[in-house]
Amino acid sequence: MKVAIASDHGGITIRKEIISLLEEMNVDYIDLGCECQSSVDYPDYAVPVAEMVAKGEVERGILVCGTGIGMSIAANKVKGIRCALVHDTFSAKATREHNNSNILAMGERVIGPGLARDITKIWLTTSFEEGGRHENRINKVTELEMQYR
Ligand code: RB5
Repeated sequence: MKVAIASDHGGITIRKEIISLLEEMNVDYIDLGCECQSSVDYPDYAVPVAEMVAKGEVERGILVCGTGIGMSIAANKVKGIRCALVHDTFSAKATREHNNSNILAMGERVIGPGLARDITKIWLTTSFEEGGRHENRINKVTELEMQYR
């Protein structure tokens, strides 16, 4: 699996922590920044990650900002993206099993690095429950992309 990861200025510490985790897990990754100390705009970092996932250049994306909210809103504008904002381990597992989320968003002002690591590990290692009711629901969500484009 290959992962693209990015943060704005509000998510740098957790992004670095997650990069260490990816290295420990031997997960291939591409780090799309930011290296900024000053303020940047989260869509400028969310969209390149989302586009890489949507084009199949990487399987999954991870986005961190202050709250995770801006990143998740921006990423979900890209066709084919199912970005889940997650701050607990139960949701990390559920959003993989039920939503087949392909991007994980977290907020550095909401959770600490230890929980972010646990969430990421669960999210990366949990499979989607294919072929059942969840697949049907995801197909309905995908149809909305055509209806409201
Ligand atoms: C930046 O101050 C902050 O707004 C951003 O990191 C994020 O929380 C937006 O949703």
